[in-house]
Amino acid sequence: MKKSSLFAAACALTVTATLAAGDAPAGTRQYWEEHCASCHGVDGKADTKAGKKIGAINFTDPQSQARFTDEQMFTAIKEGVKNKSGKYTMKPAENASDELIKSLVTHVRSFKK
Ligand code: HEC
Repeated sequence: MKKSSLFAAACALTVTATLAAGDAPAGTRQYWEEHCASCHGVDGKADTKAGKKIGAINFTDPQSQARFTDEQMFTAIKEGVKNKSGKYTMKPAENASDELIKSLVTHVRSFKK
């Protein structure tokens, strides 16, 4: 009994520390690296082969960041982005809850220099 409550306290502390650091919830960074970084780069610079080819945005650039509201980013991640001929340049995020998408927006914002 005592052991488990100590464990719970330790967990609560860890969660608080993580949130206090302003990090996105656990899993966001991993999701980014697995589903987004191929185009946008792990560091958001879009300095990848696919990113350059497809014209992904450099998210470390404040002016590029200013082009989008959080809502626009949310919609782009949720519904994808199409070019003028109606083809996806960015597909809708797979299996992403609204909560995850929100924290992906936060993650993208954190690239801004
Ligand atoms: C196949 C390459 C590709 C992948 C994978 C990709 N993106 Fe994109 N993304 C793009 C391109 C290209 C644009 C620029 C579209 C434009 O011209 O506005 C973009 C734009 C964005 C924008 C800016 C909003 C907008 O309307 O353009 C956000 C935010 C974004 N991506 C987040 C993500 C997230 C989060 C993921 C992973 C779930 C992801 N992207 C995966 C190619 C990609």
